[in-house]
Amino acid sequence: MEKLARVADDQEPEVMSFGRAVLGGRVHSLEEVSHGNINRIFIARAEAGEVVIKMAVPFVRKLGLSSPLTVGRLQSEALALQVHSLVAPGLLPQLLSLDPTKTMMAIEYLRGHSDWREQLGAGIYVAGVGSTLGLYLAQIMRKTRPDYPRSGVPVDVAATLGNIAMRSFSENVIFVAPFSKKIWTSRPSLKTSQDVERIAFALAERTRWLFTTRRDCLLHGDLHTGAVLVNPLSSSIKVIDLEFANYGPVSFDIGVILAHLKIAQIRAHVLGDRKGMVYLDQQAQDLWHGFLRALPDIFESPAWIERLTEQLLQETSWFAAMELFRRTHGVFPVSDLETLPAQHKRDAEERIFDTWLSWADAPSPRTFDDYWGVVPMTLKDPALSTQFRKIA
Ligand SMILES: Nc1ncnc2c1ncn2[C@@H]1O[C@H](COP(=O)(O)OP(=O)(O)OP(=O)(O)O)[C@@H](O)[C@H]1O
Ligand SMILES: [Mg+2]
Repeated sequence: MEKLARVADDQEPEVMSFGRAVLGGRVHSLEEVSHGNINRIFIARAEAGEVVIKMAVPFVRKLGLSSPLTVGRLQSEALALQVHSLVAPGLLPQLLSLDPTKTMMAIEYLRGHSDWREQLGAGIYVAGVGSTLGLYLAQIMRKTRPDYPRSGVPVDVAATLGNIAMRSFSENVIFVAPFSKKIWTSRPSLKTSQDVERIAFALAERTRWLFTTRRDCLLHGDLHTGAVLVNPLSSSIKVIDLEFANYGPVSFDIGVILAHLKIAQIRAHVLGDRKGMVYLDQQAQDLWHGFLRALPDIFESPAWIERLTEQLLQETSWFAAMELFRRTHGVFPVSDLETLPAQHKRDAEERIFDTWLSWADAPSPRTFDDYWGVVPMTLKDPALSTQFRKIA
């Protein structure tokens, strides 16, 4: 820990000097706002304004110096940020500069924005986030397809991106580690049975295969609710944190974000927050239908669009299941669950487990409602909300 702190202190002069170069004058304050999982994030302020500086360190901060991670990820993130900004204008912060060592980048500071996950946790429900994300995903699918001369992006991103190390980091963290054999012995809460084990391993193999072999478009790669910044006053919505950007199936990004909306909804449910539950239903619906609305701009044949929609819904269900599983059994848990009182957390985990099982193993969902509402959630017990008020 001491060594980590030393690494941190040693780096600040570099960040100051990069900030000075970008802002064109003395940096009068440097505020670190990192969550501490992977990188260091600073807000540098000068007379001329303020910028965010993202710095890649050569290890996973949450896991420490023993978990090395290439700093080359920052260059890939910068490229992905530029490409996504081009194909989805106005939906991402602007990249301002990459430092000569390519371990720091300066990006537009999104004043007044905070992360969607925090807002959901605090009962701040801004309209329009789901439909904006649906549009974002559709634009990515349409304009970053690997046959780049047809996509409109003026570089062959597939050839220049790299980010191989982050792809294998993702593969390990998502599809391998959380499904390791020892989970079944160390987590009695998993209601272990041979059937559940069989379903989990089949899901892991299937989703890993899809993730590693398909190349629909340049994915965000880690599109959870903490990667979406929202300004509640202006309703501005921005997507950040593309360090896991890679080519893959679009259903991966859709499944990941929907899994996080489901976790947030389950949290709202166990807390008796009816408004939050309805809001999250709406955002999930808007996201999916916003995405689908754009398919006729990409493909011409209605019969193919119908077929593809069914296929994507099935894959989305699997990827969402996988994300639920890894966020409840992997090394990167989510604050939606971690901040719940113990009994509520247990209730939420039970519901997540039931949803996971249905998503992982259900026959092909025919409609979005079949998929999303697979474990019905209604507040039948008014005592639940009274109970929460007492705890709060
Ligand atoms: N452009 C921005 N404007 C304002 N705040 C930002 C901006 N970019 C990042 N932040 C703040 O920094 C936080 C972390 O940013 P980011 O997710 O890019 O870092 P990270 O280290 O990759 O995080 P993680 O460990 O979750 O992967 C965000 O939640 C947000 O609070
Ligand atoms: Mg990140």
